[in-house]
Amino acid sequence: MPTPSNPLKAVRGTRDLLPPETALWNRVESIARSVFSRYSFGEVRTPIFEDTQLFARGVGEETDIVSKEMYTWEDRARAQSEKAQSLTLRPENTAGVVRAYIEHNLADSGQLQKLFYIGPQFRRERPQRGRYRQFWQIGAEVLGPVSSGSESPLRDAEVLEMLATLLDELGVKNWQLALNSVGSAEDRKRYAEILRQALAPIKHQLSVDNQRRAETNPLRVLDSKDPADQALIDGLPKIADYLGESSRDHFAQVSAALDACGVPYTINPRLVRGLDYYTRTTFEFTVPSSGDPASGLGTQNALLGGGRYDGLSEMLGGPRAPGIGFAIGEDRLILTLQAQFDAVSAKYVSYLMHAYIAPIGAHNNAPALALAQELRNGENGLRIEVGDGSFRVKKSFEMASKVASNIILVGDDELASNNFTVKTFISGNQEKVHRSELPSYILSQSAIPNDPQWAQDFFKKS
Ligand code: HAM
Repeated sequence: MPTPSNPLKAVRGTRDLLPPETALWNRVESIARSVFSRYSFGEVRTPIFEDTQLFARGVGEETDIVSKEMYTWEDRARAQSEKAQSLTLRPENTAGVVRAYIEHNLADSGQLQKLFYIGPQFRRERPQRGRYRQFWQIGAEVLGPVSSGSESPLRDAEVLEMLATLLDELGVKNWQLALNSVGSAEDRKRYAEILRQALAPIKHQLSVDNQRRAETNPLRVLDSKDPADQALIDGLPKIADYLGESSRDHFAQVSAALDACGVPYTINPRLVRGLDYYTRTTFEFTVPSSGDPASGLGTQNALLGGGRYDGLSEMLGGPRAPGIGFAIGEDRLILTLQAQFDAVSAKYVSYLMHAYIAPIGAHNNAPALALAQELRNGENGLRIEVGDGSFRVKKSFEMASKVASNIILVGDDELASNNFTVKTFISGNQEKVHRSELPSYILSQSAIPNDPQWAQDFFKKS
């Protein structure tokens, strides 16, 4: 029974997002939407739960996600016409997007499909900073028939260049791009066998989890984070030495296009990623971790990950539709931005109102509200909070300084003369300003000269 001393709480690994933080989430999403539209992406929204089979087949039975992290339940039939069905809360969105591509015959257009999504995903992981059981992803997928150019290395490079642009526009500092090729399905099969053979004599020295993976899915051993196993893993054969000619050529062209666009990257031969659908290009963007306060992420330093999945559509019963995509962990992106902003800009971006209107005396409440209406809905569309005429002036100043850049006093003299006393908290300036000048004056006193640029833009109506 919930009681006042023991109230109900959000479930472990889930959290509420509240103002002022949600302002930052909205700002990040609107920058992402604007970048995506410049690169010709349209939005796709797929259901939050799907047939369990979709993930078992798409993501792979042997992956951590499918074998131990999914929220799956047996959905009972409600009528004789319905069948009971195993359903799963989506742990990621790529499989859902490819299912929708197949279901709606998007291949028929012959066009390349460029689709983005923003939404919650669910994985039953051990919660920690930057790792939640419900988390948000901002992702995108590019796929289509081979004739639409979907296999071209240019697509990989375009996606990576777009991500570099997006992170720069968001103001993320010190990001690093790690790149690899896991080869075609055949390359992978061949390499997995070579790895299995290389692992056989040393398997017993590995951690229990990796001993199992060495048998079932040897590529998974490569991205193991277990510190005790690292030296052994470093000594294993590298996939780059086992790629077929066409995979090698594809990867070289991706790298050359990135060089042409000036996108910096490093090649990490161990980057195989935790989902089974990947072929050829795989990548991750990270921010420095382990104790670096600029990251804000602790050990969860992967901001985003992605890669090519040339066989996924066929695995789900669809036509051939090579593709490439990524998903940004939005929770991690926000943590990074919060850690990287200096304290001032983070605070201002999050929640400052342009002005707080303080009526002096309860009889001035009505004209104060009318002034708020005028400033909110007029020129510059200012963000305004209104106090109450019963507050003492000192209390109004205290409340205003916590939520707004400026305070506007609405007393009898001000209303009679139409000249209002405005105090700006950042500079300490105090001025009398005519009612007609208030929209431009308040706006000019609200911009915060701080990096990144958009922290300032946040105060302007877009
Ligand atoms: P993923 O690497 O599993 O890839 O997830 C992408 C990103 O989601 C991670 O880099 C991380 O930032 C974030 N993320 C994952 N799990 C959690 C969690 N428990 N809490 C917070 N953030 C998390 C995919 O999901 C693929 N669908 C990406 C993709 C798209 N590949 C091709 N297209």
